[in-house]
Amino acid sequence: MTRTARLHVADRVVDLPLATGTAGDQVIDISTLRDRTGFTTLDPGYVNTASCSSAITFVDGDHGILRYRGIPIEALAERSDFLETAYLLIYGTLPSPAASHAFVTTITRHTLLHEDVKRFYDGFPKDAHPMAILSAVVGALSTFYQDSHNPTDPHQVELSTHRLLAKLPSIAAYSYKKSIGQPFIYPDNALDYCSNFLRMMFAVPTEPSDVNPVAARALNLALLLHADHEQNCSTSTVRLVGSSHANLFASVAAGIYALWGPRHGGASQQVMTMLDTIQADGANVGKYVDLAKDRSHPFRLSGFGHRVYRHYDPRATILKRTCDHVLAALGVHDPLLDVAKRLEEVALKDDFFLSRKLYPNVDFYSGVIYKAIGFPVNMFTVLFAIGRLPGWIAHWREMMQAPAVKIGRPRQLYTGRPAIDYVPMAQRLDGPAAAGPG
Ligand code: CMC
Repeated sequence: MTRTARLHVADRVVDLPLATGTAGDQVIDISTLRDRTGFTTLDPGYVNTASCSSAITFVDGDHGILRYRGIPIEALAERSDFLETAYLLIYGTLPSPAASHAFVTTITRHTLLHEDVKRFYDGFPKDAHPMAILSAVVGALSTFYQDSHNPTDPHQVELSTHRLLAKLPSIAAYSYKKSIGQPFIYPDNALDYCSNFLRMMFAVPTEPSDVNPVAARALNLALLLHADHEQNCSTSTVRLVGSSHANLFASVAAGIYALWGPRHGGASQQVMTMLDTIQADGANVGKYVDLAKDRSHPFRLSGFGHRVYRHYDPRATILKRTCDHVLAALGVHDPLLDVAKRLEEVALKDDFFLSRKLYPNVDFYSGVIYKAIGFPVNMFTVLFAIGRLPGWIAHWREMMQAPAVKIGRPRQLYTGRPAIDYVPMAQRLDGPAAAGPG
């Protein structure tokens, strides 16, 4: 028996099919609604709307469950690494030893940027935010690699996938070097992905440099934990842009900008600023918890709350545990970790947060680790972007490979003026009344 939802609208009754995935919420398939009834639906923020079918990542926000291609995040955090997880997300299965070797070798060989890319950095102001640079340079890759633009050519998609994964850390490290006036450090392909990135970030040509393996492992874990999170704002952006058949570089550049906002990946930077402020204010966490509860004040606890999780974010659980271990191994004592823990403790005893099911999210503890490694605060969201890249690519490719994907094009509920006459210039009145809504 086909299961349906019956909708009575105006004088019509329509039966809409229900669809069930392999796990998670059931959906009512409304794809024929407008044709059959003349009605569309209104769902600001897509709170109730599944924009696509996807087999990549599963999130159960009520129970704090996250799986990439079916594998629990806890198992991947324990046993996998970032590049293997990237492979898993993009190709759907864990790689065989040969496939893993080939993938890692290919990514490693693409780390170098075209020399002319470096000139872009001369044009950016020294104090430019590295997220702005990251997106601009990723967009500019489409000018250098015009041989891998075609979204329907599997070979070109593969090439742009490898180029992006390989070059994003180089682009990110160069943006940091630009901001502090140091020379760019070329990638060293003898190093693994994270060690190479750390070297490009922190080495100088005049000194010998060793990458701390504790830092490389911690970064590896953090990137893995950020690698995908189904249809979040930036991933939806990548899909939407890609649905016009824009190339992968252009689609990812758009995703980077979407990630930058403080309600999304920008929260990782905001958390550190907030913890700093609280610490400077006598570590008075209660005051800031009260401020976050004040509906007349725009302040929110950064790193708290999530559209999907109504439970502790499993990534935050892992990062919180990792903080203690990494700081101890690096010999760092950061009072901001104490402030963060205290803030969490106070908030999670408060009915405001409990009743709204607001818990620490992935951004709450990541910054403490990044800071201990030596990253400046404005690079935190860049790290999120490097981590999220495999997810963006996986979703973009899944969309391109799906049969008959439509261009993303939502409808609207129009609230502007009805049709009015054009008024010639000579007859228009000056002043706000003339410009205001009529
Ligand atoms: N501090 C204080 N109150 C909050 C917070 C917070 N961090 N988050 C949500 N609320 C309140 C909100 O004011 C609302 O209260 P009320 O029902 O009285 O109006 C209620 O909780 C529901 O919030 P919402 O804004 O309707 O929830 P949303 O699903 O639209 O927004 C969110 C989710 C992540 C944008 C939001 O929780 C937030 O702004 N958090 C802080 C920023 C942050 O940490 N972002 C990172 C998200 S996780 C990683 C990522 O995706 O990048």
